[in-house]
Amino acid sequence: MTIRIMGTGSYLPENIVTNDDLARIMDTSDEWIASRTGIRARHLVKEETTAQMSAEAAKKALDEAGMKAEDLDLIIVGTLSGDYVTPSTACEVQAILGAEKAVAFDINAACSGFMFAMNTAYAYIHSGIYQNALVIGAETLSKLMDWNDRSTCVLFGDGAGAAVVRADKTGLIHFTQGADGSKGMVLSCRGRMNNNPLVKNFVKPDYVSMDGQEVYKFAVSTVPASIQKVLEEADLEVTDIKYFLLHQANIRIIQSVAKRLKADMNKFPTTLEHCGNISAGSVPILLDEVHKKGMLQRGDKLVMAGFGAGLTWSAAVMEW
Ligand code: COA
Repeated sequence: MTIRIMGTGSYLPENIVTNDDLARIMDTSDEWIASRTGIRARHLVKEETTAQMSAEAAKKALDEAGMKAEDLDLIIVGTLSGDYVTPSTACEVQAILGAEKAVAFDINAACSGFMFAMNTAYAYIHSGIYQNALVIGAETLSKLMDWNDRSTCVLFGDGAGAAVVRADKTGLIHFTQGADGSKGMVLSCRGRMNNNPLVKNFVKPDYVSMDGQEVYKFAVSTVPASIQKVLEEADLEVTDIKYFLLHQANIRIIQSVAKRLKADMNKFPTTLEHCGNISAGSVPILLDEVHKKGMLQRGDKLVMAGFGAGLTWSAAVMEW
């Protein structure tokens, strides 16, 4: 028994910020950002919260799956930017949806968050503990950015994507995931200050900081290797795959992965032009866009891959 995606949904904040908008408030340009990353705009929240965006995406996924919130046994949200440290975003979503029966918790695996959440749902469902799960990737990264650091703040965006999965004979075929905590500091975001009056060496809070070139090197080697691993395990070739749905960090990373896999770039749909990098939200938002454009037929083979802070990575091959 595996899991099959029965419905998808996504939510992007209404507020669109273009590269030219950013160039009005910092020393950057559309030319610099677009030529190095492929990003031209991103959606940034004004009022929306991570939980609200997640719930909106979830409602669409439930509708498509023909399921009610009460049918859900499990809600997992991949996020590193929940509205609170606690309660979790998943618990907030459970309350908004009224999914009273569902167990709910978050997973922080950064840009691999949705994929790690999906694999966790698979483990519960495969073992027979649960039947129906809601898996979400959602971020409000704009609140974690150092808006004085032009090398990071131009890259990221906000939004949420969701998938309803349930036990089925076909669906997720193979999965690989990994982590390397020893390289964690190449992409980090230090949390709250220790304001315990008994402690003298206060840790200063911080925003997202990144060694872009190290992250780039990690991505262009790890992502093709993990995709090749799942394809081998599934006894499939690159040519058997209709689409490769990669985490949307940078068009140059996606082009490099395509080249290493000897796959045509038109098998790599993207959202990064209008979304930027939404960390855990990237893959499910892309999946929803591809699906809603009518690009998927039941039986198509897909690869999904996430990679990012932790460092973490993951790849899955599935039948739609
Ligand atoms: N606008 C204009 N100039 C900028 C800029 C911006 N937004 N950000 C940085 N620069 C400048 C730098 O200050 C530097 O100037 P200098 O040469 O005068 O010092 C110059 O551009 C080059 O900076 P550098 O960091 O070497 O650029 P790069 O070619 O490595 O590109 C990234 C930077 C971030 C686009 C690239 O490293 C990358 O894509 N890395 C992967 C990051 C990623 O995807 N992370 C998320 C993974 S989940």
